[in-house]
Amino acid sequence: MKAVKFAVEHAGRRLEILRGVDLEVAPGEIVALTGPSGSGKSSLLALVAGVERPTGGVLRVDGHDFSGLSDDALARLRRQRMGIVFQDFHLITTLTALENVALPLELAGAPDAMEQARRMLHQVGLRERVDHRPLEMSGGEQQRVAIARAFVARPALILADEPTGNLDLVTGGRIMDLLFHLTRSWHACMVLVTHNPELAARGDRHYRLDEGTLQKMAP
Ligand SMILES: Nc1ncnc2c1ncn2[C@@H]1O[C@H](COP(=O)(O)OP(=O)(O)OP(=O)(O)O)[C@@H](O)[C@H]1O
Ligand SMILES: [Mg+2]
Repeated sequence: MKAVKFAVEHAGRRLEILRGVDLEVAPGEIVALTGPSGSGKSSLLALVAGVERPTGGVLRVDGHDFSGLSDDALARLRRQRMGIVFQDFHLITTLTALENVALPLELAGAPDAMEQARRMLHQVGLRERVDHRPLEMSGGEQQRVAIARAFVARPALILADEPTGNLDLVTGGRIMDLLFHLTRSWHACMVLVTHNPELAARGDRHYRLDEGTLQKMAP
């Protein structure tokens, strides 16, 4: 992204959230993003995901300039090229772990969606939980399902927004190890939002978002 700006209107006032953000992420690279609450970290991810449109600047993923893409085309790019992991998992509560993970593949028309989803769940250590619904799993297990879902369609880019924010320290550490391991071994790139400076230091680069701009932190 280049010179990206993002503003929203609220109660008749214009809020400038991003005031010109430049960021490039190379294949295989992990970029950590920290910053105070309300600084715009989730907004930045929403722009990269194509869920929100910037009010200025250029956004590109895989060479596709977002400004030339319709909302449908952006949704397709998101589905095909990105995996998203949220703090509160965002699983579909009426579906089993297996069905949740198979969903992105089914949307893409993969004939062996269930088989691939099952393999992915084995990879995140949930062989014994494939038939459980989200509410029949622990927080750490639910996040592993969400990670399996994010990776199952072999995305080029992982967007993770405080993925361990709702988990205890030990479980959170394991989830983070899994996320780093999968990202590195699949040569995906990741933008990781975290409040934890030690985790941020594990990325290849670390930026802090404050007052609408990015500041590079020491590696
Ligand atoms: N649609 C919207 N309408 C009004 N204000 C918004 C909207 N979206 C975001 N904001 C405001 O923009 C600011 C940035 O929000 P954002 O969620 O990106 O912050 P954040 O850095 O992710 O914070 P946190 O660490 O608490 O998750 C906040 O002050 C928020 O209230
Ligand atoms: Mg946020």
